Amino acid sequence: MRVDDIKKIAVLGAGAMGHGIAMVALLAGYNVVLRDINQEFVDKGVKAIRDDFEKFYVAKGELTEEELDKIMNEQLTTAVDMKDAASDIDFAIEAVPEIMKIKKEVFADLDKYAPKHAILASNTSNMSITEIAKATKREEKVVGTHFFNPPTIMRLVEVIKGEKTIEETMQVAVDLMKIFGKIPVRVEKDSPGFIANRVIASTIALLGAILDQKVAMPEEIDAMMKKFGQPMGPYELLDYVGLDVVYDGGIYFSKILYPDYAPAKAFETLVKDGHLGMKTGKGVYDWSRGRPKIDLSKSTDKLDPIDLMSVEINEGIKLVEEGVCTPKDVDIAMKYGYSRAKGPFEMAEDIPHDLLKDRLEKLAHKFNKKIFEPTETIKDGRLGELLKKAGYDEYAV
Ligand SMILES: NC(=O)c1ccc[n+]([C@@H]2O[C@H](COP(=O)([O-])OP(=O)(O)OC[C@H]3O[C@@H](n4cnc5c(N)ncnc54)[C@H](O)[C@@H]3O)[C@@H](O)[C@H]2O)c1
Repeated sequence: MRVDDIKKIAVLGAGAMGHGIAMVALLAGYNVVLRDINQEFVDKGVKAIRDDFEKFYVAKGELTEEELDKIMNEQLTTAVDMKDAASDIDFAIEAVPEIMKIKKEVFADLDKYAPKHAILASNTSNMSITEIAKATKREEKVVGTHFFNPPTIMRLVEVIKGEKTIEETMQVAVDLMKIFGKIPVRVEKDSPGFIANRVIASTIALLGAILDQKVAMPEEIDAMMKKFGQPMGPYELLDYVGLDVVYDGGIYFSKILYPDYAPAKAFETLVKDGHLGMKTGKGVYDWSRGRPKIDLSKSTDKLDPIDLMSVEINEGIKLVEEGVCTPKDVDIAMKYGYSRAKGPFEMAEDIPHDLLKDRLEKLAHKFNKKIFEPTETIKDGRLGELLKKAGYDEYAV
């Protein structure tokens, strides 16, 4: 199969991500069928698509009302029944809740009704594509296409190879993401959180430990990082993403990767009290009157911006050591998935590697977390070599 063979795409799940992914496919000119578990959710998804098109495209003159009507009436169809949704598609993108049992049920059902040639993709944030694929009889045609929120704006899509995914499937998925106007990054090995969410998992572990051990207040750290040049403070970002997502990710990583990733007590308490961040009006910050105003004068020296950078560099190197992706891909993922000015390897060009090793050893000791210990590459003094091999400046050796 080639990307030109794709005419119709199914999007399973009409929620926050599903409706946005459907918009991306519609804008690229594809016929899309949007499916959810009942008519009410389908209708909500269709309304969200129309509202977003009106607000972000028609109001800005990027689409006319006539063009929008044409897209909604001629390209978009809906379904509740899986047979109706899947029987004539070429590609499916699943965006149902991040629960393995639900994902597997959806994939088993999809496999039953989708034509034999169709590729089945999952938008899972963290979970194993290999495991999801096992619910089907076409494991070679199952792939990850991990979009970032909101899919119409964020350009990164991680394209993930499961253990049985064949190259043809990877290539078609990569090509389709390019037609969508996205920046696809190949994830060659199915690993929890893939690239961007795995790198962020180490930062989340650090941010949680800072709160649990009362090392600094969120505003002090956010002020420090904003003064350092980050557009959004790291705690503010967690509120934006959703503390429930942060919590669930921590649970998943702690079970599959290493216990140190377990969610901090501070985050657990907020989630149990229903304070999930921006979407509920309260999380680490109060969002009831909009985006929190961070007082830059609160910036602290209890930690150093290098500490937050170090854990991300360390985690990025682990991914390269594990054969998940290349250093350039780690940087692309962080820049286009989390809007960073620089990726971890670009940051590593600017930090003396002895200092990096020293900060990581201190963080591992201070917070009693093995995941912050410097990787073999840093410990053995081979980071400069790795950077040079990947086309970076090895200046900081
Ligand atoms: N929200 C994000 O920032 C984000 C970013 C990247 C990836 N993701 C991933 O995308 C997926 C969806 O997340 P979301 O935020 O859109 O969730 P959501 O809760 O907004 O939407 C999920 C939708 O799936 C529907 N659904 C439930 N069971 C279904 C089934 N069996 N068949 C079809 N639809 C079903 C629900 O009714 C709901 O409309 C998750 O795997 C999540 O981890 C989310």
